[in-house]
Amino acid sequence: MIDASLHWLLSYYRTSEISGALFFGQIARRLKPGALQQDVTRHFADEAQHARYWTDCLAALGVAPLKLGEAYQDRYLAEAGAPVNLIEILAVTQVFEQRVMRQYAAHLASGAEGPVAETLGRIIDDERWHIHYVRRALKALAEQHGDAPVETALARYRAADARVFEELSLEHGDRLEALALTGESS
Ligand SMILES: [Fe+2]
Ligand SMILES: [Fe+2]
Repeated sequence: MIDASLHWLLSYYRTSEISGALFFGQIARRLKPGALQQDVTRHFADEAQHARYWTDCLAALGVAPLKLGEAYQDRYLAEAGAPVNLIEILAVTQVFEQRVMRQYAAHLASGAEGPVAETLGRIIDDERWHIHYVRRALKALAEQHGDAPVETALARYRAADARVFEELSLEHGDRLEALALTGESS
């Protein structure tokens, strides 16, 4: 049987990956066919796989995933407002993916072992590509529309992300402390 805090955190990761897959799946459906739609399709397929990896990881640890009502994205989008155009969609994605990367890298560096370390390593490889393609797409939009709208959207979502991370750190501080995972908010 694994530690209760770790059980909760891995279940939270899994719920967030499912929400990510659904979010990017809807974006892919809305985009017109082309290179970006291909990338977003690969992206939502990756996030769905990540949910599966966490389910497998929990099984390897001998537990079933916990049913959790809320994912990071739900809170984050409620805080910042749903994105309404492509710049906002990519900005929200960039900020969110950077948050995920920091969280997973910090978790791995905190001394994760066995299936947890393997799963984190595997997912981090995909997350690098997510950040890369979104950065490239945002750069192309900035060349088309100027830096200002891109910077404004990024700043708005970064502020929302910092607020949500702060709230969650306060709510779940005991669990994260038990896992030596309390970190900086940005
Ligand atoms: Fe993911
Ligand atoms: Fe991702």
